[in-house]
Amino acid sequence: MAEKKIIAVVGATGAQGGGLARAILNDPTGDFAARVITRDPNTDKAKALARLGAEVVAADVDDVESLQRTFQGAYGAYCVTFFWNHFSPEKELEGATNMAGAAKHARLQHVIWSTLEDTRRWVPLSDNRMPTLMGKYKVPHFDAKGEADHIFTDLAVPTTILLTSFYWDNFIYFGMGPKKGPDGKLSITLPMGDKKLPGIAAEDIGRCAYGIFKKGSEFIGKTVGIAGEHLTGSQMAAAFSAALGKEVVYNAVPPEVYRSFGFPGAEDLGNMFQFKRDFEEYYCGARNLAFARSLNPSLQTFEQWLMKNKSLISLE
Ligand SMILES: NC(=O)c1ccc[n+]([C@@H]2O[C@H](COP(=O)([O-])OP(=O)(O)OC[C@H]3O[C@@H](n4cnc5c(N)ncnc54)[C@H](OP(=O)(O)O)[C@@H]3O)[C@@H](O)[C@H]2O)c1
Repeated sequence: MAEKKIIAVVGATGAQGGGLARAILNDPTGDFAARVITRDPNTDKAKALARLGAEVVAADVDDVESLQRTFQGAYGAYCVTFFWNHFSPEKELEGATNMAGAAKHARLQHVIWSTLEDTRRWVPLSDNRMPTLMGKYKVPHFDAKGEADHIFTDLAVPTTILLTSFYWDNFIYFGMGPKKGPDGKLSITLPMGDKKLPGIAAEDIGRCAYGIFKKGSEFIGKTVGIAGEHLTGSQMAAAFSAALGKEVVYNAVPPEVYRSFGFPGAEDLGNMFQFKRDFEEYYCGARNLAFARSLNPSLQTFEQWLMKNKSLISLE
């Protein structure tokens, strides 16, 4: 049997990397092996991946030497940053610089960089439709990722730039699920007007990434985008109603109201949704559903994702 090509997976104990690691591990006759990167190999999540057959190694994206060590001998890597752990675009840029440098050092043959748009290309800082945040960003958790794209290409790392989408899992883990109003009615609140939001089951991002690795060099040097479905707030509310057997309505609020909600990241997310609303045609167009399905034939629809996950959605 030919030796397997090792994919070093950053964030493998999390949502995106976890999906990729499990996709590799669930395909034991495939050409790839998963090298799970974690800061702590002794956690339950890391041990669970080891039990599935993964090689588990310790590294930190803030420590370039640890990355160089763990990328060594690999064929490829999945690179992702962790904005919501530190709320710092600068740290994301630093992490991307470290991962790109380590990929170059290890002469990796294929890197997938998980990114999002630098929204300042569409909404320059001088555009007052939304406030400038943290001094030089419109959507901090998007802009630094998009700004980092060139770090990989400048180093001539063979890279696929992967535009991801809103995780439907945010309805479980990010406090965005249906909430009861004073009238007792359940609603989901988004500042998207009647525009479509590309969404995806987080697990499917990793499965699509696996599809990209399996295609060999086809998508190296390319930017590709994925989503499970493009749905309006009303369509998502209707799907919630059907899945939960209780009426859920769509509460469309203006972005300025969303920005004022006060939870950590509310302004960033208010600007993000406004960007997706105002540039719907571009944003949905960049995330082709048929393409995502061609990479990952088991790509879930929102309805399928809801049927699988509805018991996890707290309705308090
Ligand atoms: N939520 C959304 O809708 C959405 C959509 C698109 C993109 N994103 C982006 O996705 C990114 C996060 O990815 P995710 O959701 O897959 O992450 P996640 O589920 O939060 O988990 C990421 C994993 O990364 C590891 N990690 C954290 N800091 C690390 C560090 N310094 N060095 C090495 N590993 C580290 C942690 O593993 P250990 O504890 O085991 O080290 C953690 O389990 C964010 O930047 C976010 O902007 C989110």
